[in-house]
Amino acid sequence: MKILGIETSCDETAVAVVKSGTKILVSEIASQVEIHARYGGIVPEVASRQHILAIIPILKQAITKAEIDWSDLDGIAVTMGPGLAGSLLVGVSAAKAIALAHSLPLTGVNHLEAHIYANWLNDKCPLFPLICLIVSGGHSDLVLMRDHLDYVLLGRTRDDAAGEAFDKAARILGLGYPGGPAIEKAAREGIASIKLPRAWLKGTNDFSFSGLKTALFQLVERGKISTVADTASSFQEAVIDVLVTKTVAAAKEHRVKQILLAGGVAANSLLHQRLKDNSPIPVLVPESILCTDNAAMVAASGYYQFQAGKISSLDLDVVPSLKIA
Ligand code: KG4
Ligand code: ZN
Repeated sequence: MKILGIETSCDETAVAVVKSGTKILVSEIASQVEIHARYGGIVPEVASRQHILAIIPILKQAITKAEIDWSDLDGIAVTMGPGLAGSLLVGVSAAKAIALAHSLPLTGVNHLEAHIYANWLNDKCPLFPLICLIVSGGHSDLVLMRDHLDYVLLGRTRDDAAGEAFDKAARILGLGYPGGPAIEKAAREGIASIKLPRAWLKGTNDFSFSGLKTALFQLVERGKISTVADTASSFQEAVIDVLVTKTVAAAKEHRVKQILLAGGVAANSLLHQRLKDNSPIPVLVPESILCTDNAAMVAASGYYQFQAGKISSLDLDVVPSLKIA
């Protein structure tokens, strides 16, 4: 079964074709990051206009590269939320047009579930029950997954998402946008010598990173930091410490078989390493390029939805504030 995946929830226009939910035939990404970097963050109207420009060329490119014809496809999976409304609308409209023109079934995919399904895009088939930590620019969700498409939300961020915290910290430190890779790179040259607060929110699986961001801002304002590298390293340690401790505790409590990482922040190699070092069970993480936004994960997620008979009608709407459970 070959599924066409379309992703336009934020600032990447992405199209992929995935076979049987696991094998990527093609995965194309048109990134807008350089355009938004000028503004220090994503400008929603600019993002939707860029998707309009990119969507048809990238669709054609993907079909050509996969060496298939439209008639070889078995279904279309498109991100319906969460994300920016104007951006989501471009992908959903394109998906509907293709579904109608080629008489193909359509399924609307939750972007967060798609991030989890990036873990199926390799040979290691994840085992249920599992805990997944989704850490992206907009979300920090701790999810218990008992089977395909069966999610229980255990905890979420109460303020800034983990990726958002990285982006804001990078801005404070003058490291540019996107902040995650910039902080990770700067931190490699430093040592985590600065004491920064951790919000444990004991008795819950929730996260909070706004206090850490404020603490960092105040240190920089008062000129109390030694080097940018040491500060980036200390900040990264503080975020990872909380993410790892809470994820491992939830995994033990729910006696799961595996821990999965997902979302843009999962591309952080120290997060992966620390989780592996502290977990008594296997930790899976997608390849770096599949951690950040892509359409292969949307196609993989869509494949399991089609298997379960979850088909959307052509009046599918976008849901910008869609939750995972
Ligand atoms: O999943 P994603 O591509 O988009 C959303 O769905 O939000 O995640 C983007 C986020 C950004 O905040 C970015 O700074 C962060 O992921 N990120 C990282 C790294 N690479 C991307 N954070 C920490 N370390 C990284 N290496
Ligand atoms: Zn994402």
